[in-house]
Amino acid sequence: MSSSATSPTTPITGRNARNDWWKSSVIYQIYPRSFVDSNGDGVGDLPGILEKMDYLQELGVDALWLSPFYPSPQYDHGYDVADYFDVNPDFGTIHDIAQVIDRAHARGMRVIIDIVPNHSSSEHAWFQEALKSIPGSPERDRYYFRFSGDEPPNNWRSVFGGPAWSPVYPLTEREDDKGWWYLHLFDPHQPDWNWDNADVWALFEEILRFWCDMGVDGFRVDVAHGLVKAAGLPDTADPDIRLTGAPAIAPYFDQEGVHDIYRHWRAILDEYGPDKMMVAEAWLSHPERSAQYVREDEMNHVFNFDILYCGWNPEEMRQIMAQTAEANERVGAVNTWVLSNHDVVRHSTRLGYPYGATIADGIGPADPQPDATLGLRRALAMTTFLLGLPGAMYLYNGEELGLPEATTLRPEDRVDPTWERSGHRILGRDGARVPLPWAKGAANAGFSSGKPWLPQPEGWEEKAVSEQVEDPTSPLHHYRTAIELRHELGLGEGNLEIVDSHPDLLLVRNDTTTLAMNMGPVDLPVPVTGEVMIASNDQGVRREEDSLVLSPNTSVWIAD
Ligand code: GLC
Repeated sequence: MSSSATSPTTPITGRNARNDWWKSSVIYQIYPRSFVDSNGDGVGDLPGILEKMDYLQELGVDALWLSPFYPSPQYDHGYDVADYFDVNPDFGTIHDIAQVIDRAHARGMRVIIDIVPNHSSSEHAWFQEALKSIPGSPERDRYYFRFSGDEPPNNWRSVFGGPAWSPVYPLTEREDDKGWWYLHLFDPHQPDWNWDNADVWALFEEILRFWCDMGVDGFRVDVAHGLVKAAGLPDTADPDIRLTGAPAIAPYFDQEGVHDIYRHWRAILDEYGPDKMMVAEAWLSHPERSAQYVREDEMNHVFNFDILYCGWNPEEMRQIMAQTAEANERVGAVNTWVLSNHDVVRHSTRLGYPYGATIADGIGPADPQPDATLGLRRALAMTTFLLGLPGAMYLYNGEELGLPEATTLRPEDRVDPTWERSGHRILGRDGARVPLPWAKGAANAGFSSGKPWLPQPEGWEEKAVSEQVEDPTSPLHHYRTAIELRHELGLGEGNLEIVDSHPDLLLVRNDTTTLAMNMGPVDLPVPVTGEVMIASNDQGVRREEDSLVLSPNTSVWIAD
């Protein structure tokens, strides 16, 4: 099953040579399909990433996180893995990934890859074997096969819509499969692994070891709160819940047993040295639940999705920051900030709606459109503020260009499985995945010489890297400056203290730096005297006699 490849040899040097590099790192998520296409097939690839190594290094990020590049029929764009030990030909070869790791290391950047342990692709060899085997066989025990006649075994719904069970008979057309069902919390092409099965434990151990041997520095664990299902597979109390669910309501999320898996994985990674890390993608009901995933003998990071979903509201933001910091401190973990990823509406668009607006999954041309100027301004304020906080910060490719969500995709362009599975009720995540613009005037804004897998909206090339790189007022320039300054000031390693202030002013101390963000509708004085190090927009801050005045939707870092 494994392919052989030469492991990278370049040792990492500089700031990120530290074993605890992950504690304060800025980690940049690359969605390979949408980053750069090197061969004109319209799909981004690993050689494309290699072309942009200088760009990534100049951005100043500490690590790259690559969304899945494994062989996959791409029903869920790579989160349906058919072989965990290789690279999808669309994305390149195993040698290309070895090179990505090697060249990133040579530039002082770490590399994290996605691991998808809740489900495989239905094309995975073990699922295919399971289908060929008889009901009740050991091959079938690696997944969830259940007999329940004409109705599915329980009322669980797929996160992408429709039942979480599909009948086996249409796949095998064998009489003895009539009345049998298999479980898939996501698409029917993503059958759930059975984590009560020892083969599954052994397989994932092999996967972790394979990629550690290849030189990766960490793993982003997909649906980390899934994997273990409550004994007896009882009904859910709320079939409408999607990704987030308290364990008592969703018998398939956040079950105690998941922690045994991560303790086991921690022990494996520790064998490879103290610098290997894991980050949990876990949509949980409370920061206290999230903190359970980052106890000392488990993972290193858990995405703070509460902050991601927090709207433009100072009280809510203060509360989430305080709860997160307390919960993490109790277990000795660092904070992990994030505002965008490939599953959510981009934050410069989310923040362009009034507080409390329902931004479901995706925005279409018929929906109310965001205030793009306000959204970008708030996004820069929010990002700047979070970049000043202690802990790790994840960025999603394109946010450094201020890219908005693509809200004009036509129904026929949509390819996210959510769109079909929900009976066209839920638009899905395509709008956050539109290929990046690199060069104005080049074919497809420099993403690809061929037709991009998702169309780029009109005007996309105005936001291209080529247009921003020399412009000191551009989002790209701002991101670079903020990241560099964050490193210089050691902000990632500081200590967070939330300071009482005007209700609309978010005020935080990070050792000798004060961070302030005006989330209200009018100018506000900031009660500190020091020097402004950076502002999310240059016109947003001015001196008035003894005080510093901050315009609405602006954040600043102030030195003592
Ligand atoms: C995670 C991924 C998402 C994927 C799902 C199923 O939430 O981030 O893109 O669809 O898991 O693997």
